[in-house]
Amino acid sequence: MSIVRDSIESMPDSPILDVWRIARGVPGCLSLLAGEPDVPTPKFIRDAATNALENGLTFYTHNRGIPPLRAALARYLHRIYGVEIDDERLAITSSGMSAVQLICQATIRPGDRAVAITPSWPNVLRAMTISGAKIEEVPLALGANGWSLDLAAVERACAPGTRLLYVASPANPTGWAIAREEAEALLAMTRERGIILLADEVYHRIVYDANAAFSFLEIATPDDAVFVINSFSKSWAMSGWRMGWMVSPQGLSQTIEKLIQFNTSGGQEFLQHGAIAALDQGEDFVAEFVGRCRAGREIVSRRLAAMPRASEIATNGSFYAMFSVAGVTDTLAFCKELALEARIGLAPGVAFGKGAEKLVRLCYAKTAPMLEEAMDRLESHLARWRL
Ligand SMILES: Cc1ncc(COP(=O)(O)O)c(C=O)c1O
Repeated sequence: MSIVRDSIESMPDSPILDVWRIARGVPGCLSLLAGEPDVPTPKFIRDAATNALENGLTFYTHNRGIPPLRAALARYLHRIYGVEIDDERLAITSSGMSAVQLICQATIRPGDRAVAITPSWPNVLRAMTISGAKIEEVPLALGANGWSLDLAAVERACAPGTRLLYVASPANPTGWAIAREEAEALLAMTRERGIILLADEVYHRIVYDANAAFSFLEIATPDDAVFVINSFSKSWAMSGWRMGWMVSPQGLSQTIEKLIQFNTSGGQEFLQHGAIAALDQGEDFVAEFVGRCRAGREIVSRRLAAMPRASEIATNGSFYAMFSVAGVTDTLAFCKELALEARIGLAPGVAFGKGAEKLVRLCYAKTAPMLEEAMDRLESHLARWRL
C-alpha cells in the first residue's frame, strides 16, 4: 500500500528541477534556469526589514498581512492602475505560489475542469492538480509575429463544467502579455459562463513598452469572480523572501483569512516592513531593474541572431528569451547536455506544457558579462553540435 495519494505519486517532477540537479553538480555552470535576477534585494528594502527585526517584530501577526502593508499595497495599486481596492479584498501571502495554492484550495472541487493558457510555469498547473482539477491546456498560437491568444480555442475549452480559467500575463515562459480587448473578452466569457478567473500578474512591471502591463484589476468589478495574484519576487528582486499578494472578489476576506490561518498562519512581520518599503519607495529600483533586463534582452537577442541554428521568438514582457535550435526535439535531453557539456543551465520547453515542447527558455535578468559568457558557451556548443 502506498501512503501517498495516487494523484501525487503519479505527478511528474518538474523537468526544470531535473536540469537544475545536474547543473548544480557541474563546477562553474552558469545558471540561467531560474526566474530570478542575480542581484540581491536593494538595500533600502533590506534595511527596512532589518530595522523591524532589530526592533523585535518577531511575533505572530495578522493572517492577511499587517494593516500598514495592506495600506501600502492599496496605495501602490491605485498609483499603478488608478484602481481603488478595498482593504478586505487584499491579502499578503507567503509567495505568489502560496496565493495560487490558497485560491485553488478555496475554489477547486475534486474532478473540476480547469483551463490553463499555456505555455505556462508548471507549478501553477500542479497546484491545480493537487487540488483535484482536471486541466485542459490551451496553447497560445505561434506565428511570424510571436505568440498570440487563440480566443476561440479558449472559449471552446471553457466548456460546461469548467470551474476556473488560468491566465498569466505577462506570461512565463513566453513573455506574451494580454491586450485590454482580449482581457475584456475573457472576462465577459467567464462572467457569462460562471467561470472563476485566476489572473497571474507576477511580471506586471517587467515590460518594455509601458510602466506596467495591463491588469485585470482595471476591468473587473469587486463582484466578479476574479482573483489576481502577484509577487514581490520579480519586480523588487525579492525571490528569496517568499512574499506575494492576492486581490480577491469582495466578501471573501474571512475565507481567505481562514485559509491562511490553516496553511501558514500568516507571514513574518519583519519581512512585511521590507515589503512596505518596496511598494512605497521602489520605483527607482524597478526602473533600473527593467533597464537591466532590457540590456540583457538585447545581448541575448543579438547573440542568438548570430547563431545559425537558433531562432528566437520575439516577446515584449517578462525576463525570458525562448528559442528553438534546429534539430532539437527533445529539449530535456538537450538542456541536460548543455549543463554537462557547455556548462550552462537553461530550462527545457517541455516543462511548460503545450506549445513549448520544442523550445528552450533562458532567463536574461543577469549581468551583461555573465550573459555574454553564457552565450559564448552556447555558440561554441552549437557550432560543434552534431547535425
Ligand atoms: C508565472 C508565475 N507565477 C507565479 C510565480 C510565483 O512567484 P513566487 O512564488 O516567487 O512569488 C512565478 C515564479 O516564477 C511565475 O513565473
